[in-house]
Amino acid sequence: MATIELQKLVKRYGKVDAVKGIDLSIAHGEFVVFVGPSGCGKSTTLRMIAGLEEISGGTLKIGDEIVNERDPKQRNIAMVFQNYAIYPHMTVRQNISFGLYTSKLDKAEKDRRIEEAGKILGLEALLDRRPAALSGGQRQRVAIGRAMVRNPSAFLFDEPLSNLDAQLRAQMRIEIKRLHQRLGTTTVYVTHDQIEAMTMADRIVVMKDGEILQVGTPSELYDTPADVFTARFIGSPSMNLVRGSKMSEGIRTSIDGELLVGIRPHDLIASTGASTEQSALQLSGLVTAVEPLGPETLVHLDVDGQDVIATAQNKFAPVVGDHAICHAPVGSLYLFDVASEKLLGRW
Ligand SMILES: Nc1ncnc2c1ncn2[C@@H]1O[C@H](COP(=O)(O)OP(=O)(O)OP(=O)(O)O)[C@@H](O)[C@H]1O
Ligand SMILES: [Mg+2]
Repeated sequence: MATIELQKLVKRYGKVDAVKGIDLSIAHGEFVVFVGPSGCGKSTTLRMIAGLEEISGGTLKIGDEIVNERDPKQRNIAMVFQNYAIYPHMTVRQNISFGLYTSKLDKAEKDRRIEEAGKILGLEALLDRRPAALSGGQRQRVAIGRAMVRNPSAFLFDEPLSNLDAQLRAQMRIEIKRLHQRLGTTTVYVTHDQIEAMTMADRIVVMKDGEILQVGTPSELYDTPADVFTARFIGSPSMNLVRGSKMSEGIRTSIDGELLVGIRPHDLIASTGASTEQSALQLSGLVTAVEPLGPETLVHLDVDGQDVIATAQNKFAPVVGDHAICHAPVGSLYLFDVASEKLLGRW
């Protein structure tokens, strides 16, 4: 059973605490995604799990065993990096077999695993090619193949798709997810990309400044972010925030309100005319930019000097210079305390 357990895990570089005593239990077969801003300690955490980075404090367990002092090799974990380090002078087959370089398996078993990985990853026809003759996505699959043949008890991915273009990233995202569904191997995946986090994760771990802020399923984090940081991090475009107060008739915006009111751009509907619909909040402002996305249009407004993003149906989309009114339906608002930035509730 490849459960992974972090108990008060610490990493210090000199005086810098890169990871500040984090606790996390990862279940067997789970797909856990770490997100957070640059420098928050995601890679460091992953590298401690892999055994590439010495642990400064706390305990790391894989299965029932404490592995703090174990070599990477003894941990039976495979890591796939952003710059996937495949060798240009080797064929695809040789690159994949490099994952078994130190293995004591006999040749027939090695060949069988390479063929199988090639088949699962759609590389069968390319096994004798060199990387120069592969697309970016195919190269990334070779790197995954190299990790796969080792039959690891866990996969670690550190921003594996960030060098790929948007379309390929979307495709590889699905492929990695399918691979996980097929193999059922415990996976820890680090990304900057909140869409990857939302679409791939069983659970998302939000990190900031070496600490874990929140852990939950994608929908838990989307519906009930613990604070403004997670609320702004999960969901695209980011949640709007305006100051407001709770009045008997609903939420009112006011510069010195006791609340930070969060409204997701998809819940804030812009129009140029008045709406008769019941709404929890109304905002109005000057349209400063419009971004047609195809099915709908994003509308940027200046609301009392603040940039707010709303959504409009294409046929009702305002144009730059219009004065637009936006409505957020009842139940769509997130209310945060101004001082602590913690979620108080939904409205
Ligand atoms: N070898 C090192 N020596 C000193 N400090 C380091 C070292 N490696 C990382 N750090 C510091 O530890 C902190 C966490 O770094 P880490 O690489 O884990 O961040 P990250 O979350 O992966 O960021 P990114 O999203 O940019 O990859 C940073 O402040 C970084 O500067
Ligand atoms: Mg990193």
